[in-house]
Amino acid sequence: MEPREVLGLDEIDLSDIAFWARPWDEREGAFRTLRRERPVAHFDDPEIPQELSFTIQRGNGYYALTKHAHVSEASRHPEIFRSGQGATSILDMPEEMLDFFGSMINMDNPRHARLRRIVSQAFNPRMIRSIEDRIDFVANRVIDRVAPLGGCDFVTEVAARLPLEIICDMMGIGPDDYETVFQASNIILSNGDPEYVPEGSDPILAFMTAAQQLNMLMLDLAAYRRQHPTEDITSALVNTNVDGEALTDNEVASFFILLVVAGNETTRNAISHGLLALTRHPDQRALWQADPVGVAATGVDEIVRWGSPVIWMRRTVAGDTTLGDVDLHEGDRVILYYASANRDEDVFEDPYAFDVRRDPNPHLGFGAAGPHFCLGAHLARQEIGVMFRRLFERLPDLQAAGEPDRLLSPFINGIKHLDCSFTPVAAA
Ligand code: HEM
Repeated sequence: MEPREVLGLDEIDLSDIAFWARPWDEREGAFRTLRRERPVAHFDDPEIPQELSFTIQRGNGYYALTKHAHVSEASRHPEIFRSGQGATSILDMPEEMLDFFGSMINMDNPRHARLRRIVSQAFNPRMIRSIEDRIDFVANRVIDRVAPLGGCDFVTEVAARLPLEIICDMMGIGPDDYETVFQASNIILSNGDPEYVPEGSDPILAFMTAAQQLNMLMLDLAAYRRQHPTEDITSALVNTNVDGEALTDNEVASFFILLVVAGNETTRNAISHGLLALTRHPDQRALWQADPVGVAATGVDEIVRWGSPVIWMRRTVAGDTTLGDVDLHEGDRVILYYASANRDEDVFEDPYAFDVRRDPNPHLGFGAAGPHFCLGAHLARQEIGVMFRRLFERLPDLQAAGEPDRLLSPFINGIKHLDCSFTPVAAA
């Protein structure tokens, strides 16, 4: 894909939702213009729907960091570029919502370090190894359901199912609740998209109701696992570990909301972008299919760079500093555009080429090095790798059919629906 620079520098407005409805090549073009001509650009805050103006205020705008070097620098210095005032919303959200929705993604030290210490033990290599077979099993089960059909909505029937079922399994949530978790996570990340939040209904109310559902589910499970521990992560988190640390039930519930949101939608979108890219670049697909294990090692990361499912995260400046030639002051907000850093021509050779053997590939799709680097990166890589291995094996002529139906969101580079076709085969 070649970017198209159809907007002049001063016509680019990242706060205008219409910008995010533009075709991908025009969006890429605008970011190329910004990186070249105004790499630390100031934008006014987005408009706030009238019904939300009681709880959320507009401020004095934000700086968009579009270069790989600046995004990396901000991530490396959490003492100056802080997360506690919110990492996933451009505007300041009410404080009580930050922990509830974001758990540790919206925290600074020492709270962040404490939480991350406790939960990283549950994501340690032993735990991830123990679920490798499980990932394979679930991937095969997902393929079994669609294999005889010859076609389906790849996003909802394939890409979305694997990460959802794995997270639920890891936390100890049973199949009866998969659907509730699926619907609730769609609403939370929908940015009010009418497919998930019907027109006329209050998006914040829908959002709160969905989060409350996940919260209740997890509070019940946490209380139960305190008394009846098993091998699942919930048991590990609520019961004291070797260092005498544990999460409270509320902390587990918020962490679960973060996992569901951070772990499901992102991996689902990565897998969907993967199929789209592999269909549009048959030469790259042929390479991968000819050497599934060898190419997966680099191909998975190229999919994450290419799709950049998380477009940005926010930081708030804690003291005077400089990025590029822009002076920043306490309280300034900066938005770290990972999606733009992942096309930075100073870092990537031929950044608009989808190259499954790209190596090195220092993409920032999982964030840049720093304390908030994606906790689930290892798990996500496994899921994407296993999914394509099994898809290539069992549905070798699988193709995306037609155009993707994109999520209208400035935050998540989402694909809501993508038809696919393949020669039907019997379930294994
Ligand atoms: C392709 C899939 C994924 C992508 C693109 C992705 C991307 C990201 C990004 C950009 C961040 C923020 C990094 C920063 O602020 O420096 C993040 C954080 C996080 N991710 Fe992921 N993620 C993915 C999958 C997952 C999965 C599968 C899980 C868990 C099961 C997960 C859990 C988390 C958590 C808990 C954080 C917050 C870490 C912290 O604040 O310390 N992610 N992810």
